[in-house]
Amino acid sequence: MQEYIIEGGRKLEGEVYISGSKNASLPIIAASILNGSSTKLYHVPNIHDTQITLKILKYLGCKVSKNGDKIEINSKPMKSTEIPEDLMRQMRSTVIMAGAIVGRFKEAVFTYPGGCEIGARPIDLHLNAFKKLGINIEENAGFIRCKCDKIIGANINLDFPSVGATENIILASVLAEGETTITNAAMEPEIEDLAIFLNRMGAKIEGAGTNIVKITGVKKLKEVSYKVMPDRIETGTFLCAAAVTGGNLILNQVVPEHITPIIYKLQEAGAKIEVGNKKIEIQVPKKLKAVDIKTMPYPGFPTDMQSIFGAMLTTAKGTSVIIENIFENRYKYLTELQRMGAKIQIEGKMAVIKGVKRLSAATVTSTDLRGGAALVIAGLGARGITKVENIEYIQRGYEKLEEKLTKIGAKIELKNT
Ligand code: EPZ
Repeated sequence: MQEYIIEGGRKLEGEVYISGSKNASLPIIAASILNGSSTKLYHVPNIHDTQITLKILKYLGCKVSKNGDKIEINSKPMKSTEIPEDLMRQMRSTVIMAGAIVGRFKEAVFTYPGGCEIGARPIDLHLNAFKKLGINIEENAGFIRCKCDKIIGANINLDFPSVGATENIILASVLAEGETTITNAAMEPEIEDLAIFLNRMGAKIEGAGTNIVKITGVKKLKEVSYKVMPDRIETGTFLCAAAVTGGNLILNQVVPEHITPIIYKLQEAGAKIEVGNKKIEIQVPKKLKAVDIKTMPYPGFPTDMQSIFGAMLTTAKGTSVIIENIFENRYKYLTELQRMGAKIQIEGKMAVIKGVKRLSAATVTSTDLRGGAALVIAGLGARGITKVENIEYIQRGYEKLEEKLTKIGAKIELKNT
């Protein structure tokens, strides 16, 4: 196991270069299955989740080579259409590989990805959409077998604007016969990035990033090179790290319009934020003011920033109210923050945080990716030495976190236990 040892109370100052987006890279890596040819990707973060996704491609027979943040995939030699259970269960979002596999091979076998720390995370919207596309689905003993002669374009309405389901429908229908329309589609920037990537491959996708996406099936897709968009949640994480230490940071290689709700909320809390071309500068007063947040599908306040913002609000002036509307179990990190002296009350979807002067260091345990990041944020602002255990969760989604934080003045050390 590994842990972070963080000596809190140090102002973060300087420049940070944000990595490529985890949540754009995963569907784009899966989409490289579709062209049966070569795909060159740049700016892919070297993190556990992208490593697992590439491992699955290799297992299925693709050729994969990596050189820094450049990845080369050739899916021509791919021969298997069955995702191995042990790899499937290592990550929730492997389910979007199913859409790419069935999109090209008209068959796929995979297992239920299983819930995770933040909720049950069912895939009913994915499977119902596959059925609408003419894919037969058989389930038994946790295995899901998809098979069809051809995929026929359909009109699909999503009960909930699910990010993964929207991505899976796009992946399964780019080579379909006819037109597919998704209504109530998720509008996250990662979906737009996937569509731009696929259109560069020769797909015909319109409306990605809005709630109505139209995919016109094509016969063939060609080789492609692509640079993945910056990670908007990593961007928000570093803004909150600056905020919690009263620091002054410049973030480079970012897309400010991807994090509008986060910028507005930080400004409401008293932070001074300048937005430039692919750049954000944040300066923070001694004490932030309490603010209320409600998580919503994009373009609302992102659920992935809820825990990170919550950690920052534990020492804001006043009482903040958080409402988590997307996942049913995304407050576990708050119990850990109470060990550091945070004053918190949880009532169902609502968490009430009464700001205290300062948190005190403690040994705390990560239970999920963004909850773990929240504990790091809390440790950066706390008095004394905080130990964050189980940081494997954090390494799933943040590339070289301790290196980036050290460069801007944090005292954080990675320790094997
Ligand atoms: C994606 O997960 C992201 N992961 C999550 O980021 C993010 O929190 C989430 O979208 C919401 O923005 C990746 O992109 C790899 P959903 P996904 O389908 O696709 C319910 C992180 O920290 N639902 O939009 O799984 C579901 O239970 C991760 O980087 C169904 O009920 O999210 C949840 O309550 C965490 N049935 C809600 O919809 C389904 O078939 C949103 O889920 C699918 C989803």
